[in-house]
Amino acid sequence: MNASPLQPAQAQNTVQSQEGAVLYGGITNRRVTVRDLAKAKQHGERWAMLTAYDALTAGVFDEAGIPVLLVGDSAGNCHLGYETTVPVTMDQMVMLSAAVVRGTKRALVVADLPFGSYQESSAQAMHNAARLLKEAGVQAVKLEGGERSARSIELLVEAGIPVMAHIGLTPQSVHAFGGYPVQGRGDEAAHRLLRDAKAVQQAGAFAVVLEAVPADLAAQVTEQLAIPTVGIGAGVGTDAQVLVWTDFAGMTAGRVPKFVKQYADLRTVLGGAAREFAADVASGAFPAAEHSFS
Ligand code: KIV
Repeated sequence: MNASPLQPAQAQNTVQSQEGAVLYGGITNRRVTVRDLAKAKQHGERWAMLTAYDALTAGVFDEAGIPVLLVGDSAGNCHLGYETTVPVTMDQMVMLSAAVVRGTKRALVVADLPFGSYQESSAQAMHNAARLLKEAGVQAVKLEGGERSARSIELLVEAGIPVMAHIGLTPQSVHAFGGYPVQGRGDEAAHRLLRDAKAVQQAGAFAVVLEAVPADLAAQVTEQLAIPTVGIGAGVGTDAQVLVWTDFAGMTAGRVPKFVKQYADLRTVLGGAAREFAADVASGAFPAAEHSFS
């Protein structure tokens, strides 16, 4: 990859810099760290996270100034052709994560621990998180679960591994949930979510993803936590927002969840280009003289 690190002028062009900003208009010549994210929370600076599964797109997002890239196990359904995230393996996550690290210079790269790679024991979580750091070169890992995952988070953090937690709708539990329902509705569920959020903070997580929870509850959790919250389908009151890149760029076929805003229509653009290429080949319009050697 020949992606160059963001220069100050470029960084300021990508996202308007703010007073006291750390992530936008601040760091430009090294990778973002978990300490920078803690400072951003203190300054009230909001930030964006996108998923990435390969070096090429990761490089585009890195150059655009996205400060945190998540190699999500959403790679399962968004990149590898599975129905859900459940089949994704550690070997696949290591391979995809290494590509994202190679394609980036500035973003903090966080990799998901896939289903079955950490639930057995804290020792299993440690073994697999270490693989993502050592073999893929990511700077942090993410795992699903609140109170139930607190012990593993604690162990990883004690070992020097930054952990992003993920609560609310946790897609690895799709079969237990019977789909992807909104979480935290009603007093009891809201209290459980708040307990989960406090448990992962207490365990040492540097940030927590809140997925598919009512906006007012997510705002309440955000207010009560010292660590950044990263919302997806959680309204505007979180410290950061994450979207799956294939959804936000309009690559996903069919319907996308209600919480997705599509910022581009890449599926139409790419499909159109492919159809035009095929037609040019069929008609003999490509290659033309300028594409040929004499
Ligand atoms: O795997 C993923 O992409 C995620 C995001 C939805 C947060 O976990």
